[in-house]
Amino acid sequence: MNDSITNANMLIAQGLSRQLRVGEHVIHALHEVDLAIEAGEMIGIVGPSGSGKSTLLGLLGGLDRPSSGKVILDGIDISELSEDRITEIRNEKIGFIFQFFNLIPTLNALENVALPLQFARQPKFRPEQRARELLTRLGLGDRLRHRPAELSGGQQQRVAIARALANQPPLLLADEPTGNLDRSASVELLELLHEIRDTEKTTIVVVTHDAAIAASLDRALTLEDGRLVEQERAIAAAH
Ligand SMILES: Nc1ncnc2c1ncn2[C@@H]1O[C@H](COP(=O)(O)OP(=O)(O)OP(=O)(O)O)[C@@H](O)[C@H]1O
Ligand SMILES: [Mg+2]
Repeated sequence: MNDSITNANMLIAQGLSRQLRVGEHVIHALHEVDLAIEAGEMIGIVGPSGSGKSTLLGLLGGLDRPSSGKVILDGIDISELSEDRITEIRNEKIGFIFQFFNLIPTLNALENVALPLQFARQPKFRPEQRARELLTRLGLGDRLRHRPAELSGGQQQRVAIARALANQPPLLLADEPTGNLDRSASVELLELLHEIRDTEKTTIVVVTHDAAIAASLDRALTLEDGRLVEQERAIAAAH
């Protein structure tokens, strides 16, 4: 790893491995992954089902702990931190977007987006005002009081994105964000992610099976059997 570039790196993984024990067997879900993602990059993680994509994303975002190796997030080695400190860092620095949205069903759109704002240790925004602004920007200004079940899949995904952006995190991690969207909603989501990156300089890491998404990113990392086999810079997006 080149030390002279580490300051510009939002995420670094060094020798990152995750083993899982299932009965008598040990599964190497991730094996000795090294990578560096620069601030402002928009990166895809691709690979077959079971190749370790979600495992990698979970480790990068501090949702899971490595068996060995480390993750350096915005200059902080999160591998050794206490659970409380990791939770704080996650809330401050990372927005997560999941395939199944993970919205709270009993809360309306506004309340779902305001929730992480209420947990911010050093609040930058007034929760309700920020939630309203984000949802309006994402085209949901007339759906603020709708609960998730009263919204379409694409609308729920936009609420989830607004929630992920609530604390203006420098890093956005998305696991199959278009997995439950139709083609047109997927294209819209992709445009939205590009817009977020361009306006907020957010670093974005997207796990995807979607070739159109992968092709529109700066770079794609390919996993196979828990190993990083390719780090490819897309020609069209060279910058
Ligand atoms: N909790 C767990 N316990 C045991 N094995 C697990 C667990 N979670 C994942 N694995 C195994 O680790 C490997 C990687 O899983 P992972 O979910 O990261 O794959 P993935 O690339 O995200 O797949 P998909 O595209 O299907 O979502 C798989 O072989 C899986 O069976
Ligand atoms: Mg997965």
